[in-house]
Amino acid sequence: MQNYPAQPDPEAFLIEKTIHPCQFPIELVEPLVLALTNPNDLVVDPYIGVASAACAAVLHNRRAVGAEIMPEYVSIARARVKRAIEGGIQRRPLGRPIYQPGPKDKVAQLPLNRLPGEHIHPAVASLV
Ligand SMILES: C[S@@+](CC[C@H](N)C(=O)[O-])C[C@H]1O[C@@H](n2cnc3c(N)ncnc32)[C@H](O)[C@@H]1O
Repeated sequence: MQNYPAQPDPEAFLIEKTIHPCQFPIELVEPLVLALTNPNDLVVDPYIGVASAACAAVLHNRRAVGAEIMPEYVSIARARVKRAIEGGIQRRPLGRPIYQPGPKDKVAQLPLNRLPGEHIHPAVASLV
């Protein structure tokens, strides 16, 4: 099996990370909610997880409904939607410029544990 260097975990940068292994940032869904729906429309997420899409919906005066098979995610989803309705959910504000890492930032550096001969994606290799 080929070894791949450890990659930074994008979810590690979520302001409000939960136990869900593939939680989306709320701010990823917000532009879609705004572009594709009108106030009071119903946003349906059939695989709702911890309700990032539903949070984006209620933050913009849409209604939301979803399905989730894992009870522990449903509890977190309910709590997050409640916080979003009450104004207590944290997220990166819409319109804030994306952070541009400098060459000294950790995210721009190759992992130290990379083995000789390990695969490096060509896009990354061009930066080395
Ligand atoms: C990619 S995750 C969604 C994450 C979500 N966008 C968020 O930010 O929290 C997909 C979710 O679908 C759920 N799921 C998988 N099969 C399902 C099913 N048959 N019915 C309902 N939910 C299901 C999984 O438990 C998982 O939480």
